[in-house]
Amino acid sequence: MRFHYVCSDCGREFRTEDLMYQCPDCSRENDGSHFPKGNLIVELEDDVLKAAAAKEHVTPNDFYPYPSDDPEAYPIGVTPLMRPRRIQERLDLPRLSFKLDSQLISGSFKDRASYEVALQAKALGEKRIVLASTGNAGAAASAVGAAMGLDIILFVPETAPLNKLMQSVLYGAHVVPVKGSYDDAFALSIEYTKMHGGINRNTAYNPMTIEGKKSISIELFEQMGRKAPDVIYVPVGDGCIIAGVAKGFRDLMKAGLSERMPRLVACQSTASDAISRAIEHDDYRAISATTRADSISVDLPANGRMAAAYVKDSGGWAVTVDDKDILDSQITLTRLAGVLAEPAAATAYAALEKDREHLASELGREAEAVVLLTGTGFKDMKAFDGRASIPPAIENSVEALKMLSF
Ligand SMILES: Cc1ncc(COP(=O)(O)O)c(C=O)c1O
Repeated sequence: MRFHYVCSDCGREFRTEDLMYQCPDCSRENDGSHFPKGNLIVELEDDVLKAAAAKEHVTPNDFYPYPSDDPEAYPIGVTPLMRPRRIQERLDLPRLSFKLDSQLISGSFKDRASYEVALQAKALGEKRIVLASTGNAGAAASAVGAAMGLDIILFVPETAPLNKLMQSVLYGAHVVPVKGSYDDAFALSIEYTKMHGGINRNTAYNPMTIEGKKSISIELFEQMGRKAPDVIYVPVGDGCIIAGVAKGFRDLMKAGLSERMPRLVACQSTASDAISRAIEHDDYRAISATTRADSISVDLPANGRMAAAYVKDSGGWAVTVDDKDILDSQITLTRLAGVLAEPAAATAYAALEKDREHLASELGREAEAVVLLTGTGFKDMKAFDGRASIPPAIENSVEALKMLSF
């Protein structure tokens, strides 16, 4: 075995080759009123870390608990690291960069987790993956499933953006829209897995999701010349992406490759701020989320405890922004960077805009800051309704050109 599990709450170790989701002791306390306990952390064995450390360049595959023998079958990254010059000037942050995970095959960061869970399914001889999603994780699992020949059963809130649902249908998944919230779909998908078997890919509930997501840090480390950036702004809902970012740097540090952990900034909407409350006030209660940034609209963050702990350990902080600033940031990103981001992804940029003076006072204007742009805006063009429209057609004549004011 390349790894074992450790409970993130009680620290108990589990050495097993069987499928495992949560610590049986700690998860018994979960009743839906507070962030769940008992999520597992995957610890790689020393020989795996040593082998990675000996390489001139590392790839995510060196750090996966279930590595791939055919990474080209569904390539994960390397996604572009953009230096957005006009935004750097606007914010007076000359070393700012954007990590464009909207460029992954299904259009969001979620390919990272889905890929590692698909590798887990292959290794364990399972054909079926079950999950709940706000839309992107479902589309990602469906895309990976199509490429790797796995059956995907997907529970989504019926209000999820049409394109995300349509994507999953087109990839051939069994899509089950639920008359309820994402949190309701989450609970139903776990019941379905208990009834019908397969691997449950729910974010953080399956510890391999964090292992897949950590791949972004391995990429960033190599893209930045084998070092960690100073600070990373991450859009946060369940807290699985930000925990994955932390875990990647933790593994790099354990291997003796990275000298430090970047500061992690949890970026949320004021209308879905459960993890920010945990970071700032140690408040782990469920909330009632209402943000338009659907991918980060979460009442009970599945990985809230681990995410809050990782942010605090990194010396990081939380930033909340209101929905108007999130939607305005989408326009800023398109107009000044040529990047079309969905609302959840734009939240990380909106948070940086709000936080820039604080960032400069903490780490200086020359700080190497990275914003994770986690999903493409093409999936949710309705978010632009009322804010942008196509101009009326002109007559097909040279005369009509004289009427144009530009
Ligand atoms: C585009 C995008 N950004 C950010 C997030 C937030 O990730 P997490 O729920 O792991 O915090 C999601 C989750 O669905 C997402 O789809």
